[in-house]
Amino acid sequence: MNARRPIVIANWKLNGGIDLLCSSVASFIGKHYEAEIVVCPPYIYIRDMLNFLQHSEINIGSQNVSKYASGAYTGETSAQMLKEAGCKYCLIGHSERRAMFRENNASCQIKVQRALENGLTPVLCVGENQQERENNVTKDVLIRQITESLEGIKLEDGSICIAYEPVWAIGTGKAATPEMAQEVHQFIRHELSAQYGETQAQSIRLLYGGSVNKDNAKQLLTQTDIDGLLVGGASLDPDHFLTICQQA
Ligand code: G3P
Repeated sequence: MNARRPIVIANWKLNGGIDLLCSSVASFIGKHYEAEIVVCPPYIYIRDMLNFLQHSEINIGSQNVSKYASGAYTGETSAQMLKEAGCKYCLIGHSERRAMFRENNASCQIKVQRALENGLTPVLCVGENQQERENNVTKDVLIRQITESLEGIKLEDGSICIAYEPVWAIGTGKAATPEMAQEVHQFIRHELSAQYGETQAQSIRLLYGGSVNKDNAKQLLTQTDIDGLLVGGASLDPDHFLTICQQA
């Protein structure tokens, strides 16, 4: 038994509009869940979702954050702005951003720092791609992603979350098996313990993401080192998302 509260985060990616997003979480209003529930809408809908969910316990996160604090950076949104808007969490380094928008561990490190400075909880996303898994370098990839993205960052108990999302499992319908996911999560916690000490390692919530649905959620969540789920496609389906959250 550990003291980490389970967490389920919906990453809605570039999906909308507002009616679809509201319908995904409408049934949560006025109810209590054991797990902490967070939704990450596209930036433009953050305020709308806060209003829509004001009588719910759901927290709001962003899908990204700028590495810049302010200035001439067209199209960027800063950590301070997200905090002011009402966000509690922000995803950092999602594999889609790494693959399509040139994010790397160095930019993630700055973003984690910005988030922490502004009172947001960063959810650092890490994970190997298919080829890296086949080449048996998953652990090396993860160590590098975590070490470089957190380099020089002073962590306090529970101040960050880490989401393990194997790239080959994202949007493919091929989730990691609970055993496979647990093995990696255990490894990540072990590495965190080596770098930050056991107390820190035990306070950090580790999430699994990649083709989570209402049928595989429970088994994933019963693994010792899996504290939560980061859900993409299934979080847009009210039936799937509600069932996943009830199981957490
Ligand atoms: O961040 C969530 C994610 O990338 C997983 O997406 O659709 O496989 O659940 P999905």
